[in-house]
Amino acid sequence: MRLHSSLGDFRAYRASFEGGCVVVPTMGALHAGHAALIRAGVALARERHLSAGCIVTVFVNPTQFNDPADLEKYPRNLEADAALCRQAGADCVLAPSVHEVYPKPDFAPMPSLPAVAAGPGLEEASRPGHFQGVCQVVNRLFEITGPRCAVFGEKDWQQLQVVRAMSPVWGGRPVEVASVPTVREPDGLAMSSRNAQLPPSARRAAAGLASAFVEAAKAKVWQDAERAAAGALGRTGAHVEYVAVREPSTLMPLPPGATEGRILWAVRLGGVRLIDNAPWRAVSA
Ligand code: PAF
Repeated sequence: MRLHSSLGDFRAYRASFEGGCVVVPTMGALHAGHAALIRAGVALARERHLSAGCIVTVFVNPTQFNDPADLEKYPRNLEADAALCRQAGADCVLAPSVHEVYPKPDFAPMPSLPAVAAGPGLEEASRPGHFQGVCQVVNRLFEITGPRCAVFGEKDWQQLQVVRAMSPVWGGRPVEVASVPTVREPDGLAMSSRNAQLPPSARRAAAGLASAFVEAAKAKVWQDAERAAAGALGRTGAHVEYVAVREPSTLMPLPPGATEGRILWAVRLGGVRLIDNAPWRAVSA
């Protein structure tokens, strides 16, 4: 596996392959959830005969953080990340600097934001500008790596819909956006780089967050599912930012009698912001 911490090096390496690649964009602090994305990327590169294989990018993107303190404390450990990528079978890790990704403030223009980013009033309402930054960096990382396919996790369900709605293109062809189900801890907590920031008592309380899905699954209508999930989240001591059952791809509110959707929530617990989601189906009478 190659590790490139500079873009110049990487460009020479990438130019030695004529074919496309699979890219797995990450912000590092990798865990078993990322390993699942990378293994899926490696399998996809083989299936599609992509000679440049599976490239993992590790880049903590400043433009998607609306809180400078959050950016500052985001965990970084390239050595451990590279070891995980190697173990998961990646062909190459690219960890460019901020200056290389954004050489001039106006070098990477903000792509227009798809309606699915701000329209639903969920993540983007809590973190204004977040998806704009995600679209910007995804565009830029695609420009740099030249992918045929890209792999994203279902853990960030809203991000996945935003990236799909961007309809990314590289070399005149659409980039295939593949997704991988959320990997969970034994107690049901979705794996996230932020879990490591939870103080011990908050980590214990976080074990109760997944019960929101269990409670929502007992509801006959989505409005009750939202109420039940909010109650379960609140009982862990978390501050609930939002809980919503939405149409899975547009993320817009469901019509009153709908019996299926995606339940999405965001909470703050022990000073850490956590998000999660799962499919929702009305319990049959
Ligand atoms: O999901 C993430 O880790 C980030 O939002 C992404 C897609 C790597 C863009 O910085």
